[in-house]
Amino acid sequence: MKSLCTATILIPNTSKLPICHYFPNLSLKSSPLLRYSADPSHTHTGKSRIPERIKASSMAATPSTASSDRSQTPKPFSVLFVCLGNICRSPAAEGVFRHLVKQKNLDSIFYIDSAGTINYHEGNPADSRMRAASKRRGIEITSISRPIRPSDFREFDLIIAMDRQNREDILEAFERWRHREAFPVDADKKVELMCSYCKRHDETEVPDPYYGGQQGFEKVLDLLEDACESLLDKIVAKGRQV
Ligand code: 4NP
Repeated sequence: MKSLCTATILIPNTSKLPICHYFPNLSLKSSPLLRYSADPSHTHTGKSRIPERIKASSMAATPSTASSDRSQTPKPFSVLFVCLGNICRSPAAEGVFRHLVKQKNLDSIFYIDSAGTINYHEGNPADSRMRAASKRRGIEITSISRPIRPSDFREFDLIIAMDRQNREDILEAFERWRHREAFPVDADKKVELMCSYCKRHDETEVPDPYYGGQQGFEKVLDLLEDACESLLDKIVAKGRQV
């Protein structure tokens, strides 16, 4: 398959992604991180699919609308975290990553969301045990569960699965939808494993904490904090480099 992008970067473990997925409107002349203004209208705190959330925040936008509405400003870099139910691991990943991005004052250049491979919990807030564990670490989880949808493959630069089964399910959905949807040719290459970014842990998957005890939720957060730190570093470093 041929890509329109010329430069490539290596992602830990396996993936080789075209650079244009990272900062699609990147200027070669200056760092995109310097060119972005602190425009609060880029801050996205809700899921575009949930009407109440859209009403609650007129700032809400999908990655694609964020791009088309503002011809002067580059499209935010978008990351979608995915697990099974979208009530434990991926909402926590969304919360942890959002927290780190905010700490570094980079809210305006990121669009962050999460989704599940099943719709069983659609419309529900994250599991109270996950929210409580996150809160103890100073991280708020505000997401409302939604299943993955075809547009995710067009709109997100990166789709990060919590475990191998999630990744397989995402790719299976992609295969199923690609017959009726217009996807970028290499959309499946956007799908990575969260733990491939871990530096301080050897685990290769974020384990499902749903049927376990408190320890499981703490473990999830340990892994997510490790992975999200290096994910953010990687994205920022690549943005500066080009
Ligand atoms: P998650 O955890 O995939 O991290 O959101 C689960 C949530 C719900 C179920 C399983 C895992 N469930 O079986 O309903």
